[in-house]
Amino acid sequence: MQTVRVNLGPRSYDIALTSTDPAGFAAFARRAAPKAKLALVVTDANVISHASTVASGLQSVGIHSQTAVVPAGEASKSVARLEALYDALAELPADRGTLVVAVGGGVVGDLGGFAAATYNRGLPLLMVPTTLLAMVDSSVGGKTGVNHPKGKNLIGSFHQPAGVWIDTAYLASLPDREFRSGLAEVVKYGVIQDPEFFEYLEANAAAILARRPDTLVHIVARSCRLKADVVEQDEREETGLRAILNYGHTFAHGYETVGGYGAWLHGEAVAAGMVGESRLAERLGRIPVAVTDRQVRLLTAFGLPIAGKPEWATEALIDVMRRDKKSQAGKLRFVLPTRLGHVELVDGVSEDLVREVLRT
Ligand SMILES: NC(=O)c1ccc[n+]([C@@H]2O[C@H](COP(=O)([O-])OP(=O)(O)OC[C@H]3O[C@@H](n4cnc5c(N)ncnc54)[C@H](O)[C@@H]3O)[C@@H](O)[C@H]2O)c1
Ligand SMILES: [Zn+2]
Repeated sequence: MQTVRVNLGPRSYDIALTSTDPAGFAAFARRAAPKAKLALVVTDANVISHASTVASGLQSVGIHSQTAVVPAGEASKSVARLEALYDALAELPADRGTLVVAVGGGVVGDLGGFAAATYNRGLPLLMVPTTLLAMVDSSVGGKTGVNHPKGKNLIGSFHQPAGVWIDTAYLASLPDREFRSGLAEVVKYGVIQDPEFFEYLEANAAAILARRPDTLVHIVARSCRLKADVVEQDEREETGLRAILNYGHTFAHGYETVGGYGAWLHGEAVAAGMVGESRLAERLGRIPVAVTDRQVRLLTAFGLPIAGKPEWATEALIDVMRRDKKSQAGKLRFVLPTRLGHVELVDGVSEDLVREVLRT
């Protein structure tokens, strides 16, 4: 078992990673929540079997649990589902020591996490991510929340978990497209923070796609460490550092909105978004073309898109970017590479330059 420690003072916690020791979960849960006697396991319909393994593990260390199953998909990140979780917690009945255990992808993590953040002014939370995206991104960093009809993640809070248990064996049942989509965020960490990790991904692309257990544990552990490094320095998105995690995401937001949520998975939009933003950096003279080319090759090897669909209108994409929370007073703002492994926040990028990139 490997451990990644997230250092946040009194809110510090461990991310435990394994591919071979499923039984280690029970002891990990006990350590993370020494006093818990009761738990609510939150899961979705596609991962019930993983949730029941988790529930047995909890039982073996004296934590009795109920399971709340939500339908799979983004629509479950709703106030209505949240309310149902509050009902389930009230019925248990939950007290301050009751554990919420989120077993699933980012949807279950964000929803269950927000229930834990708010019920009884905060319950301990254990994350058991089952998608690659959740393992490398959403379960690290403490952001929780649900959607509002007016916007994604509009209702939310920061709530750090008591622990994160990652068993990469859970990925065996993950559909190929979801798996590849999660790889986009993994590539992102290489570009923004770690050139050696990027090289590792290039050299091991085949093993990664074959989901070799040791390789998966390595890339997930490294991704968690890199995200934790950022979160430790900017826990609540106040210093601006956390913004580097948005590399590729301004373009991605355009693709997701114009394509309609659901046309592309998030990671697919991020893959094409990174290439677009890297081309912007090229045109601004910040990087040589080779830096983009390497991303294009790696993302292509992972079966990810490297450009938006031709039918997505340039002006519509620009319009979304203009409204992006990172933009200010009509000028576009991007996180751009200065070399492989380093990015900077760049203000005042002209719309014409973005247009040019979108049209090539
Ligand atoms: N909190 C954060 O910091 C943060 C960061 C990034 C994304 N997110 C959120 O995460 C969500 C997306 O997460 P996601 O990509 O994990 O999507 P998801 O939770 O919808 O899971 C994707 C699909 O895979 C299925 N699934 C999950 N694990 C499986 C497994 N092991 N085997 C088979 N099927 C499995 C799910 O049922 C679902 O159908 C979005 O709502 C996004 O806003 C949050
Ligand atoms: Zn993302």
